[in-house]
Amino acid sequence: MKKISLTGIQSTGVLHIGNYFGAIKPALELAKTYETRYFIADYHALNKKKDPKELYTGIRHAAAGWLAAGLNPDEVIFYRQSSVPEVFELTTMLMAFTSKGLMNRAHAYKAAVQFNNERGEDQDVGINMGLFTYPILMAADILLFDSDVVPVGKDQEQHIEMAQDIAQSVNAIYKQQILKVPQAVIQEDVAVIPGLDGRKMSKSYGNTIPLFSSENELNKIIMSIVTNSQGVEEPKDPATSSIYTFYKLFSTTEEQEALAARYRAGGMGWGEAKKELFRVVNRELSPLRERYNAIIADIPAMDKILAQGAEKARAIAGTVIGRFRKAAGID
Ligand code: TRP
Repeated sequence: MKKISLTGIQSTGVLHIGNYFGAIKPALELAKTYETRYFIADYHALNKKKDPKELYTGIRHAAAGWLAAGLNPDEVIFYRQSSVPEVFELTTMLMAFTSKGLMNRAHAYKAAVQFNNERGEDQDVGINMGLFTYPILMAADILLFDSDVVPVGKDQEQHIEMAQDIAQSVNAIYKQQILKVPQAVIQEDVAVIPGLDGRKMSKSYGNTIPLFSSENELNKIIMSIVTNSQGVEEPKDPATSSIYTFYKLFSTTEEQEALAARYRAGGMGWGEAKKELFRVVNRELSPLRERYNAIIADIPAMDKILAQGAEKARAIAGTVIGRFRKAAGID
């Protein structure tokens, strides 16, 4: 039997190539060897987003983005968290097994408290219970599907440890394995994708290359990459060029060697290097962009795919929740 991989997808923010290489591609790679369940964490998003339009479009953009990037809904159970009521049933049950002290130690909550303290504010200002109990909802997401592995970024490691703790306390109390204890798969070996300014690519730095920008926008973004003032004729060092770092992500080994040789030989200006970069980026992203545009143009069809995924997910979730209710005496 194949092992189970599950992950939650944030639905806030525009997908960029850092997400693509750092999260989407590796998660789709895992789907080849694992039974896979991937979902849009839309109730988690509600903690932060109260504008209905923004929430609605964020959910659709995230779902369309993953489908366009190659998620195959016939092979991966793909659904919205909010379409699986068992998630909330399990969340409530897990509350009874989670100490408040564990939640007090969560990084995101602690950072919010510290933010208030530094400003001399009451420590609870702007903190809702959704933020405070975020790790419990996330534990329910994971434990509801007997997940073996959870591919996440380093920042989510503590949440997975909390899910382990919570599962273990349930199992200890009933002296049987009600909930499977999951393992994190931290995507550490993926190179940090540099942003346009050389810092880590992140939407908070505003230095991203959006995954689905139009050809024109993409061209503009690439042409705006900051370079040094070396002239056309000067030989250039590929190792220190951010253009070359991006180029490596999108090109074959032969292409990389050819461009590196042109850099070293001199006679190629930065404008020329950017043109060559645009060519390979656009080559990889064009088909994604076309699929994305087609998917987003027919939202009812995509919603149907997500609804079918939710149906499959609920069938699995029902057995896990049934097991737990029986052990707890509330079946
Ligand atoms: N908290 C995760 C993030 O910010 C998203 C998420 C929600 C998740 N539920 C999950 C990830 C369950 C893995 C498993 O990226």
